[in-house]
This record gives sequence, C-alpha cells and structure tokens, in this order.
Amino acid sequence: MPRLTTLDIRQMKEKGEPIAMVTAYDATFARLIDQAGADMLLVGDSLGMVVQGHESTLPVTMEHMIYHCQAVVRGSQRAMVVGDLPFMSYQVSVERALENAGRLLAEGGCHAVKLEGGERSAAAARAMVQAGIPVVGHLGLTPQSVYALGGFKVQGKTEEAARRLIDDAKRLEDAGVFAIVLETIPVPVAEAITRSLAVPTIGIGAGVHCDGQVLVSYDMLGLFEELTPKFVKRYDDLGARTRVAVRAYVDEVKARTFPSDEFSFR
Ligand code: KIV
Repeated sequence: MPRLTTLDIRQMKEKGEPIAMVTAYDATFARLIDQAGADMLLVGDSLGMVVQGHESTLPVTMEHMIYHCQAVVRGSQRAMVVGDLPFMSYQVSVERALENAGRLLAEGGCHAVKLEGGERSAAAARAMVQAGIPVVGHLGLTPQSVYALGGFKVQGKTEEAARRLIDDAKRLEDAGVFAIVLETIPVPVAEAITRSLAVPTIGIGAGVHCDGQVLVSYDMLGLFEELTPKFVKRYDDLGARTRVAVRAYVDEVKARTFPSDEFSFR
C-alpha cells in the first residue's frame, strides 16, 4: 500500500476531506493506528510526558526522537509519518535546524518534520523546505514554550493575539510548510486561519472548522490519566482496562492457576 504524501494531504483540503492525525511512539501502536485508517502519524515530543514521564516535552532529545521515529515508520505502511523537532534542535541557528531536520528524515525515516512557532521559526522552515524536507508548522499553545506561556492555556484570546496567530500562519505558509497544527485556540480564530490558508490546518483543541484533527493517542485511549485537557475525547479507557487485566493475571499467578495445562508444554 503506497504511503500518503504531502500532495495527498494538500489534495484532501482541496477536496474538503478531513485529515485524521494521531500520535504514535512505537511500532505496535503505529501498526494499530495505521490499520485503523489514520492519514498521518505524529511522533510527537509529547512522548516526553506520556512515555518518559516528564512534566513537559522539554527533556526530549534528537536521539529520543530518532529512536521513536524509526519504530513508528517500521510499524506503519500507509500513513505519512511526521517527526517532531525537539526543544532547542531548531531554535539556535538555521544551520543547526536544517541539520536536525535532515537527521529525522535520514536516520529516523520520517516523511516530514514539525516545528513550533510562527515568525520566529519561519527562516528555519524555509531552509528545510528549500532542502526538500516537508515541514508542518505548529501554532497556538506550543508546549515547548510552556513556561513562557505560563502553563497549558488557551492562546489567541485577545484580538491582538488572534491577529498575531493569523500573521504567523501566513508567515509559515509563505515559508513553504505543507500543513499547520493549531493547538488550543478559540474556534473562530482557527476558522479564520483555516479560511485564509491554502495549506491545511490540523486542529487540537481548535474546533471543528480545521481541515483535520490530531489527538495524542495516550489521551484518546485513556492511557494517560495525569492530565486531561478539555479538548480530549476519550474513545476508550485502556488505562482502567489494563489495570483490570493485569490484576486478573496477578491474582492467577498468586493462586497458581496460571499457567494451566493449556499454556504449558508436556
Ligand atoms: O507532541 C505532540 O504530540 C504534539 C501534538 C499535541 C500536536 O505536538
């Protein structure tokens, strides 16, 4: 089955077909999410929180990202795999940004990279695009700036902040990104940005008018229970179901009823 490409993703906006993106961090989940029909897999630096147990995404390194991207690419067949550029891998200089973006493709096997920020990241995004690296932008609540933003809060609430977001989106589009993630911003602002761009927007906490949606897999499946933002819809409760299943196993081990003959060799 051929992988979806940036052309397919752009065409989906043109045809009005919503884009479904989900995060994945390992081959097993990548396979399941891919088989379920997600168009794009995001190897998000959210792995710092949901996989590594940190309080933010900031400790994630290029080596971590490459390792997880390789696993997700191996596990999937159809979806386009986008790898997050981690904190400080693209902010220091355009040269360093280009080098690290190249590593996510060459070593991680990703098909595109994602970076946070508008105007401040536009030069890096442009250099990547010119080097043939597909780029996804990320605006609104940008988790790598969580301390500067004062927490995981709704962005773009004032008229001035909304206008800045719209300008930032334009700057990214001019730099050549093929899609933009909009995180935790008011619905009308996301709608205005979506209407003003030729490239698709992919919303998370940004309402229904975006061209696509993205959710963190551990959130939507109920695996990450520490923090549940308002925009997360839980499609299952695998956290609770895991505890029930493992408790049953523990009880059987303690009672010496597992392994029974069925699971043993004679
Ligand atoms: O790291 C991540 O998972 C993300 C999504 C929340 C968009 O950037």
